[in-house]
Amino acid sequence: MLQDKKIALFMTGGIASYKAAELSRQLIKKGAHVRVAMTSGAQAFITPLTMQTLTKYPVLTDTFDETDPTLVQHIDLADWADVALVAPATANILSKMANGIGDEIVSTTLLAVHCPRVIAPSMNENMYYNLATQRNLRQLREDGYTLIEPAEGFLAEGYSGKGRLPDLSVIIEAVEDVVAVTKWKKILEGKNVLISAGGTLERVDPVRYISNDSSGKMGYSLAKAAKRLGANVHLVSTRPQLAVPHGVEVEYVESARDMQEAMEGSLAWSDYAVMAAAVSDYRVSHPSEQKIKSDGSDLTIHLTENPDILASLATKKTHDQTIIGFAAETEHVIKYAKGKLHKKKADWIVANDVSQEATGFNTDTNQVTLLSKEGQLIETGLLSKDDVALRIWKIIAEAEEDDSHGA
Ligand code: C5P
Repeated sequence: MLQDKKIALFMTGGIASYKAAELSRQLIKKGAHVRVAMTSGAQAFITPLTMQTLTKYPVLTDTFDETDPTLVQHIDLADWADVALVAPATANILSKMANGIGDEIVSTTLLAVHCPRVIAPSMNENMYYNLATQRNLRQLREDGYTLIEPAEGFLAEGYSGKGRLPDLSVIIEAVEDVVAVTKWKKILEGKNVLISAGGTLERVDPVRYISNDSSGKMGYSLAKAAKRLGANVHLVSTRPQLAVPHGVEVEYVESARDMQEAMEGSLAWSDYAVMAAAVSDYRVSHPSEQKIKSDGSDLTIHLTENPDILASLATKKTHDQTIIGFAAETEHVIKYAKGKLHKKKADWIVANDVSQEATGFNTDTNQVTLLSKEGQLIETGLLSKDDVALRIWKIIAEAEEDDSHGA
């Protein structure tokens, strides 16, 4: 995957800089060429000579130290790179990148970079959770950077917290993913992808409803990833507060029955239909037209079972669409997911364990297992929801390609 790929490694001033030396070695072992730029902060922790010796390329340390008159070194590095990797990324560089500041070699070169960018933030926990840092991270995510979650564990300050540079394997996997996206740019080219997202909402009266904890983030990540991979994307969402990924068409719904109508309405158009929404199993049988007043007595609400949208889509295929469902479970994840695959006649079920903090509802990370009706069982690692989404599309597209070759 990384054979002959050109990786620009940007190092900033954190103690994890020493790990970036090993990171460069591992990338080179995988066949990549690595060229390094370091801030003065990074140079306080590890010398440019170390990085030059490991990478066999001169290291950029100063914007104005132009030794070769035939080129401008920071533009040359920016134009050369297939992937830009910022590791470790301090709160300071995140702030500069989010705001377009270039005032030393690393931030200046990053302003000129036009390839996919991966950032591995690493800092003290308090700095990580600082509101400005979190705002910058949100901005960078919105700007299309791939952000790797820092790991939890023992920090250099002598206590445990979030902020460690994650395992090098996690960083390398993220780099491989962005390379794959570049290479796989066309895997969904021209395909029509229909996705539902969010928890449905069942009215009790005009101001009250029954719903669930689904944030819609996974569905939105799937929409964003499908768009990045070349698809036309129609999103049926219950979460108007989420930012719509660039170029994605959105239709807002509330109830399960609204969602069913919207999904079935676009089914014939779609090549892939994904039920990432958490559909309320029951709706209020007779929602009140007026706000219900409390009168000191108990209130009983009668519920009626909702249609199963996923199962219904699977029986209403108009051509050879791929129907994908989700199974959020708190125990016996694979066993229950297999049951759903068969019962609902989906082509794929994406199973995840929502009892774990990092993979539950409303988190930014996830880890899933894909089960196909052909019996494949494929796991992703713990990744951001955006990266899990890319992985899901890759797995499904790869399996379909194998199928069509095998046929
Ligand atoms: O049975 P369970 O709700 O766990 O199934 C999960 C899958 O089925 C999800 O893909 C969800 O979107 C879909 N589903 C549905 N209609 C329902 C209930 C679930 O489409 N009424």
